[in-house]
Amino acid sequence: MDHFIYRDGALFAEDVAISEIAAAVGTPFYVYSTATLLRHFRAFDEALEGMEHLVCYAMKANSNQAVLRTLAQAGAGMDVVSEGEYRRARAAGVPGERIVFSGVGKTAGEIRVALEGGIRQFNVESEPEMQVLSDVAAQMGMVAPITVRVNPDVDAKTHAKIATGKSENKFGIPIARAREVYAMAAALPGVEVIGIDVHIGSQLTDLAPFELAYRKVAELTEQLRADGHSITRLDLGGGLGIPYETGNAAPPLPSDYGAMVARTLGHLGCEIEIEPGRLIAGNAGLMVSRVIYVKEGEDREFLILDGAMNDLIRPAMYEAHHDIIPVIEAAPGTEKTPYDIVGPVCESGDTFAKGRDMVPLAAGDLVAFRSAGAYGAVMSSEYNSRPLIPEVLVHGDQFAVIRARPTFDEMINRDTIPEWL
Ligand code: LLP
Repeated sequence: MDHFIYRDGALFAEDVAISEIAAAVGTPFYVYSTATLLRHFRAFDEALEGMEHLVCYAMKANSNQAVLRTLAQAGAGMDVVSEGEYRRARAAGVPGERIVFSGVGKTAGEIRVALEGGIRQFNVESEPEMQVLSDVAAQMGMVAPITVRVNPDVDAKTHAKIATGKSENKFGIPIARAREVYAMAAALPGVEVIGIDVHIGSQLTDLAPFELAYRKVAELTEQLRADGHSITRLDLGGGLGIPYETGNAAPPLPSDYGAMVARTLGHLGCEIEIEPGRLIAGNAGLMVSRVIYVKEGEDREFLILDGAMNDLIRPAMYEAHHDIIPVIEAAPGTEKTPYDIVGPVCESGDTFAKGRDMVPLAAGDLVAFRSAGAYGAVMSSEYNSRPLIPEVLVHGDQFAVIRARPTFDEMINRDTIPEWL
């Protein structure tokens, strides 16, 4: 559930009319709802009640400072995957002891920054990385708390580009080799094993692959304990999917997920960490865009919007579906008509939807892309020299620009011309 609803035929974000924001900041723009962000965070937090736990928001989904601060103030930790994300989390006020560091390619420099600034744990993904981590920590006179990310070879049944738990994926250590790798960790001076990490993919709409992976983690926990390791924390990754398409079956809820976690892992007495990104931010955001032209093709009509693939890449990159709704509702009973909905970028991949049934729209009308709060703004670019679009946060009847649209000069002046030119 989210807080984007029609009131008297006009789309609102909480208590603010979308058209009011459009008038103030121009289009296209992203808008996020504070109440929805908090609602989703709390759904996870409550789902794990009864087990010691920390919800570490996967900030790759949406790393705006205001979004991070909103969640951090509610008690969220953060899952970071780069020095940039680590610095963003700290800048938003997240203490190091609530930050976990994931990712297959952490550099010695990034490890140093996190050790200096404070870190809850590193999720180690390979033996060479563990060696570097131990060396850096030992040089600093520190011992780094670690989990090892295991690859359970489970099919997450999601889009191939976002599945991470099969043996052919670059992530984690094959679970069959885990005991060997934990033995190596125990012998290194700069790391201390505290637990196990697993993440099998994103936009999972079924609990079965999670459960399969978590059963393997439960078994491994017992084996590692028998080998003499102290396993007190299990990081279960993120990945629970969201409903993108009205009318499709809704994925399981955080409460269903929490019950499954308790059932498969609760008996181990470990602290549970999860790293949800999409489910917290996805349906807490819209991308709002304006129709520039309605163009008659030979056999179809194109809605040409001012938003494009550089602003929201998911349809072009993953064939992702986003519901697209009018900001001003049509009269009840208005007949729908199919449109190809496209942006102005100069490639055919700049297509948001083909043959999408919509109420008739005209140049100047506003439309909103739903489920755009996660992997939207963070994946945008300035392709075709289109400045990054602004982000707006709504809180009740207030709204604020939380990242301004750069001017054309700001965009152009980031380039420098060498003196020989
Ligand atoms: N933890 C780790 C280690 C991850 O790699 C990811 C996502 C998450 C947590 C959060 O997963 P979530 O709860 O958001 O599913 N750009 C793609 C999604 C990429 C996900 C990458 N890893 C998209 O737009 O669908």
